Amino acid sequence: MSQETYDSEPEATRREAGEAESSRANRGWWDRNADEYQSDHGTFLGDDRFVWGPEGLDEAEAALLGPADALKDMDVLEIGAGAAQCSRWLAARGARPVALDLSHRQLQHALRIGGGVPLVEADAGRLPFRDGSFDLACSAYGAVPFVADPVQVFREVRRVLRPGGRWVFSVTHPIRWAFPDEPGPEGLSVSASYFDRVPYVEQDERGDAVYVEHHRTLGDRVRDVVAGGFRLVDLVEPEWPAWNDQEWGGWSPLRGNLIPGTAIFVCERDGRDGA
Ligand SMILES: C[S@@+](CC[C@H](N)C(=O)[O-])C[C@H]1O[C@@H](n2cnc3c(N)ncnc32)[C@H](O)[C@@H]1O
Repeated sequence: MSQETYDSEPEATRREAGEAESSRANRGWWDRNADEYQSDHGTFLGDDRFVWGPEGLDEAEAALLGPADALKDMDVLEIGAGAAQCSRWLAARGARPVALDLSHRQLQHALRIGGGVPLVEADAGRLPFRDGSFDLACSAYGAVPFVADPVQVFREVRRVLRPGGRWVFSVTHPIRWAFPDEPGPEGLSVSASYFDRVPYVEQDERGDAVYVEHHRTLGDRVRDVVAGGFRLVDLVEPEWPAWNDQEWGGWSPLRGNLIPGTAIFVCERDGRDGA
C-alpha cells in the first residue's frame, strides 16, 4: 500500500500499536498517499458531494444528519475530512462546516479544490475547539478506523457538541476484518478471526509503523459509542446499489452484493453530565 519513500516495501503484520504510534504512522501515510487517493477516488467522491463510503450512499439521499433543509445555519465539524468534499456539500446547504484532518497533504487538496471551508490540521483525539462549539459532527471513514482509542475520540466529539447534537460516522464494516481485503472471489472466504483485535500494521525495515488500522467488533463499536457519552440511534449497513460498478480497494460489486462493506453509526449526544 505504501509508496517509493521507503528503501524496501513495508512489511504487513499484526501487532499492538498505541495511540501515538498510530497517529504518527497514519499522518505520514496519508501525507504520502493523499495525491494518489484523490486521483483514484476524487471523481467518485465529487468535489462537493457527501458520500458515506465505497457503496456510494449519498447524504443527499440518506439524510442521516437530519433533513437537508434543517442543516442551514448549523455548525458542523467534519472529522478526517480529507479534501473536505462532505464539508463543501454541507456549506452548499447553508451549514457552517469546519473540516478537520490529521494530514497536511489531504488539507492541501481541500485548498486546491477550494470553496472557502475553514480547515483545521489536528488529531481527532485532541480537538482544538471549545466545549459546545458544534451542532453536528460527521466523519466518512475519517479517523475512527485508524485510532487506537476510539472512546477518546468520541469523548472529544461529545465535548465539542452542544446538547442533543448528532454524531454520525462511517467505518469499514467490522465483518470485513475476517476476510482478505481483496475485491475478487478470494475476498469471500474467511481467513482470520473476527474476534482478533490485534491491529493491522505496515512497518518499515526498522520496525516503525508506517500505516495502522484498528479493528473493533460490532459490539465493541456499540460499547465505545455508549462509553463516549452517546446514544446509538441507528446503524446503517448500505447495500451495494445496481448502478455502482466501481471497485475501491477491497470493496467491489461482487463482495458488496454478499457481505456488508460499510457501517454507519448514527449517534446522539446523551444528556448525562461528566460522561
Ligand atoms: C479514508 S480517508 C477519508 C477522507 C474523507 N472523509 C473521504 O471520504 O474521502 C481517512 C482520512 O482520515 C484522516 N485521519 C486518519 N487518522 C486521523 C486522526 N487521528 N485524526 C484526524 N484525521 C485522521 C486521514 O488523514 C484521511 O484524510
